Amino acid sequence: MEQIRARNIQKTFLAADLTRVTAIKDLDLDVHRGEFLCLVGPSGCGKSTFLSMLAGLDHPSAGDLQIEGTPVQAPRPEVAMVFQEHSLFPWKTVLQNVAIGLKARGVRRKEAEDVAHQFTEMAGLRGFEHKYPSELSGGMKQRVGIARALAVSPEVLLMDEPFGALDAQTRILFQEELLRIYDQFRKTIVFVTHSVEEAVFLADRVVVMTFRPGRVKEIIPVGIDRPRTLKILEDSIFLKAQTSVWEVLREEAASGFRALKCAA
Ligand SMILES: Nc1ncnc2c1ncn2[C@@H]1O[C@H](COP(=O)(O)OP(=O)(O)O)[C@@H](O)[C@H]1O
Ligand SMILES: [Mg+2]
Repeated sequence: MEQIRARNIQKTFLAADLTRVTAIKDLDLDVHRGEFLCLVGPSGCGKSTFLSMLAGLDHPSAGDLQIEGTPVQAPRPEVAMVFQEHSLFPWKTVLQNVAIGLKARGVRRKEAEDVAHQFTEMAGLRGFEHKYPSELSGGMKQRVGIARALAVSPEVLLMDEPFGALDAQTRILFQEELLRIYDQFRKTIVFVTHSVEEAVFLADRVVVMTFRPGRVKEIIPVGIDRPRTLKILEDSIFLKAQTSVWEVLREEAASGFRALKCAA
């Protein structure tokens, strides 16, 4: 059964020069409960906008967006988001940052601290609980953001290019870690990436979006069993899926490239 249901979603922004930009138009999408879905598409196609709307942080200009059968109107306790750039509070420690979502959900202080400890440790941050974000590397900050999102045991985890700022090796470690967590929890994940390889490695289905205005161009199922390890990177099914996604994406990426050149 679908847990997330988007129908005819449209999002229009008023740009600085007062022209209207239609970022998303006619976007239809169903995400099944417990599914790992990756969204790819050229820069500016509305991926972050769509995720923000799912998180209840922004609202469609038109259309119907539902989670668990009810319209998304505001942030919900069962939905957590990991942002592209870590969004930690600089004046709070690692532990306090991880506990924020719990406190916002009304969990008592002692319990919030216990759970925050558990997830801080799981994120490989033992010994750093009382450090401030400025004392951490980029990868560690991103771990804090992920620990904070997971600590609230969300039914839906939204991730906006969460590994984009990491170096290649750290990124692979994070991908493996996320797969491990997913195999354990099996909650719904909607993950935005611009890496086709990352999308196919992680997802059950890869959604390719069109260049502006963004909508679903094609959905490519990835027929690879779980648990997945790095070995599948050499698998012919993996390589085929990657080619399928790239073939659909290429046209859209080219449109995006042309638009950038015209704007320059
Ligand atoms: N707050 C905003 N005001 C005006 N335009 C915006 C705003 N947020 C996003 N946009 C525009 O909407 C389009 C989609 O942006 P975004 O969702 O960030 O794309 P993506 O994440 O796919 O790169 C872009 O053209 C962007 O410039
Ligand atoms: Mg984005």
